[in-house]
Formats: sequence, C-alpha cells, structure tokens
Amino acid sequence: MSVTLGIDIGTSGTKSLAIDERGSILASATAEYPCDHPHPGWSEQDPELWWEATKKTVAEVLSKAAFQPEDIAGIGLSGQMHGSVFLDGAGMVIRPALLWNDQRTAAECAEIENKAGGRAALVRMVANPALTGFTAPKLLWLRNHEPLSWDKVRQVLLPKDYIRYRLTGTYATEVSDASGTLLLDVVHRRWSGDLLSKLQIDPALLPPCYESPAVSAKISDLGASATGLAAGTPVVGGGGDQPAGAVGNGIVRPGIVSATMGTSGVVFAHAEELGYDPLGRLQRGCHAVPGTWHVMGVVLAAGGSLQWFRNELGKAEVEVARARGVDPYFLLSDEAALAGLGSEGLFFLPYMTGERTPHFDPDAKGAWIGLTVRHGRPHLIRSIMEGAAYAMRDSLELIREMGVAIEQIRVSGGGARDPLWRQIQADIYGHGVHTLQSTEGPAFGAALLAQVGSGGFASVLEACDATIRLADETPFDPEAHEFYNRGHALFRQLYRDLRGSFAAISGLVRRYQ
Ligand code: XUL
Repeated sequence: MSVTLGIDIGTSGTKSLAIDERGSILASATAEYPCDHPHPGWSEQDPELWWEATKKTVAEVLSKAAFQPEDIAGIGLSGQMHGSVFLDGAGMVIRPALLWNDQRTAAECAEIENKAGGRAALVRMVANPALTGFTAPKLLWLRNHEPLSWDKVRQVLLPKDYIRYRLTGTYATEVSDASGTLLLDVVHRRWSGDLLSKLQIDPALLPPCYESPAVSAKISDLGASATGLAAGTPVVGGGGDQPAGAVGNGIVRPGIVSATMGTSGVVFAHAEELGYDPLGRLQRGCHAVPGTWHVMGVVLAAGGSLQWFRNELGKAEVEVARARGVDPYFLLSDEAALAGLGSEGLFFLPYMTGERTPHFDPDAKGAWIGLTVRHGRPHLIRSIMEGAAYAMRDSLELIREMGVAIEQIRVSGGGARDPLWRQIQADIYGHGVHTLQSTEGPAFGAALLAQVGSGGFASVLEACDATIRLADETPFDPEAHEFYNRGHALFRQLYRDLRGSFAAISGLVRRYQ
C-alpha cells in the first residue's frame, strides 16, 4: 500500500487526510480558524493559525490511521491562493498575511499596470491583469504603506508554502500557486524577470518554483518533532487550492469543468494551451498537471456569503444544530426549501468582499434587493444560494465565450453537498451537474499529486483515472432554467445599476472611518 498525505490550508480551516493508491481515504481531520477584517475591505490571518491547525490535524490523522508515519511515501500541500506571508531574515513572520479576498490594493494595481506599460502588456508578461487579491500588489502595498516592515522582508511565501517551510525548513513553491502571484511568466513556467525588474522587486524574495508533482523538500527533524511525521518524508510541490482541487475532481482534460463553492466560488477549466485575452477577463495560470494550463472565474464570496449568514443571522440554527449533532447548513437548507423559485422576487448580490470575476470591483458590496413584508428567513437564505449561483454563471458564460468546451460540469464544496443548492446550480447553469465519490476537495488533489511524486503513478492523468469516480448527476429542469434566465439578466442589471452607489459608499466609509 502506498500512503500519501494531503494538507489543505483553507481560509476557514485546515484539512489533512491520508489516502492509498486507490484513492481511498484512510483518515482525515479538520480544524477551523477565524479570519480578521481589521478595516473595511481588509482580510488577514496570522500564519501561526495555519501551523497550529496543521500540527493538530496531522496528529489526528496519524492517531486514527492504521499505518506508521514511516509508511507515508509523500506529502502534498494545497492552500488558499494569492496570500502574502512576509518573512524576515530569520524566517519569522513580520505581520499578518494579506489574503486572497483582501481589497486594499486598488492603487497598487493601477501602479503595476502603469509600470508594466498597460493591461495588455501586463497580460502578455504574466497572463493576468492586476487584481486586488493577487500577491504582487500586496508587496507594493507593504512597500508604500508599511516601509519599516518592508525593509525587513527577505522572503515572501504563499500560505501553503509557509507550511512547507515550517515542515521542512525549505523555501519553495510550485507553478500553479505561483501563477496567482502576478509575478510568474505563466507561458514559460518561471518567475517573470521582466516584471520583477519593472516593479523593482528583488527576485531573491521569491522561492524556487517547481512543477506540482515534483519533490520540493523533505520533512526536517524540527518538522518531524512538531508533527509526528517521519523526518526525510518527501514533500511535493502541491498546488493552489483551485488547481489542486481540480486535480481531485479530475479536471485534467478538455471538456470537463468544475464549479466549486467553498468560501469562494470558482469555475475552473483545464487548457492544453494558455491562450491570450488582452482584457484578462478570466484568471489564467499553470495547471498542477505539468505542461498544461487553466482558466478560471472567481466569485469571492459564494459559500462565504452563506457562511456570513450562518455566523451573523443563523445563531439559532447553530444552537439547534449543536444540540442535535447535525450540520447547521442542513437546517439553513431546510428553511430555504420553503421558499419558491426565485425567492419570490428577492435578489441577493454576493459581493460581500468586493468582486473579482466578472466585475473586478473592490468596491462592490453585498445586497438584498426586492425585500417585501412577505419575505422571511427562507427567502433570505434561498436568495443567497441563488445569488451565488448567478454569480458563478457569469464565469461559466465567460469561459464559454472564450471558446472553452463545456461538456460536463462537476460540482464540489458546500454548494455541492446540499441537494437544494445543487439543483439551484443545475437550473441556473442550464446544465446537469455531477458530484464525485470523493468530496474531500483540494486536500485529496494534493494527496494525489504526492502519489505521482512518490512514484505511485506515472502521471497526474493516470492517478486521476485510477482514483476518481462520478457519483450522481443532478439534471436541470428546463422550466426552472427558463425562469432563471430572466432572473440572471435582472441580477446582472442590478449590479450595473448599483455600481456607482457601491463606489460612493466606499468613499463615505473611507471619509468617516
Ligand atoms: C482563487 C482564489 C480563491 C482562493 C481561496 O483565485 O482567489 O479561490 O484560492 O480559496
């Protein structure tokens, strides 16, 4: 038996799991942590939370499993993309990490496009426009706003790569996550010397960059004594949570796309060629499958909007769920099922942390529109589910417009676990949606990459073919789809109508903060 471990450093928690070469889950564990929003539009986390959660979940997996730490052939890491961990010369964290959904860098994005010679030139260099959540603008923000901290920075790491450093003592990253820094020459799969020099960023701040299944480091004595893992265990490159999750969902061939609702909502397609869109309307990057690429559209708060509702307005459901030992999301979904199609005219715009695809608007805000006295909690909840799916459809349509074939949609994340949300997605997309037997997400994909890196499979494709099985298909209802086509047009119009007001609200908040 060839055992590998996958560790996913998510936004709301860390998951560790162990699999065998058939893809069976041998043990898994999760640990949650909060996210800080110290100012409007800011989103930060202390990397120490990730490390504590990694130690806890790895220890739990090892204690549940029937194998010994020495039996682990390899470890794969995945994690929330684009975050910036700033380290000093002694490898100590300088300040909390700025996350993928942080919106403070609009001015730095403009600065980057300007220094690069315009958006089209930037897209030529790094395959993407400057988006507020990406890593490069965060570096410039630190340089512009916290120069004392910036002077101390000797290394910048992505979230999962910080955990690699704690486990192995080695600075390293891999191409799929590095694509989301805005500093990678995505065509040639190496750091963009060109852009780094235009932005006057020292290349020494960035770690060596590997392919995702390649061995990048080994568990150190320190990492071993902190976690119970065996010193010397190989750690492969791994992947950003979206590319790694795509591997776990078998999105490794043309025609199959995924719609994943975690905190973010992501529509992801595999690409044999990188392609070029001067407007950079979709994110492009290296896939975790060597020699291939991906395109994706990202909704910043899809599952995140429902999570907000659970935390702020669903305290009663959380209490009841705790008493009954069930997931509060199941109770929320039962309530939502009481509301009819379209939530009786109630729309929810899910732009709670600004929006990336398709609006690129850090000022966009969440909103319920169309409230009447007839609306109750069922409508509030269902409209959030519908709003998230409408926003995902925006990305799906862009992917279609780019000429990417969509023959099968595979859903995963919280939005796939719930049958009602699955049906809403199928009806809004106008396409049946498939679930998979493994619902473990990016940690599973990372463990598969480790299977490849440790020699269990000759390629990522081979590993996916041997381990990934479809579960159910939820077909779409043509009548509901017809209704949602009209709903989607209105949803899009509402954003256009409110865009100016959203920017004005941000201005007001900035002024009176
Ligand atoms: C992808 C993205 C998010 C984060 C968090 O571009 O920003 O999906 O990776 O999951």
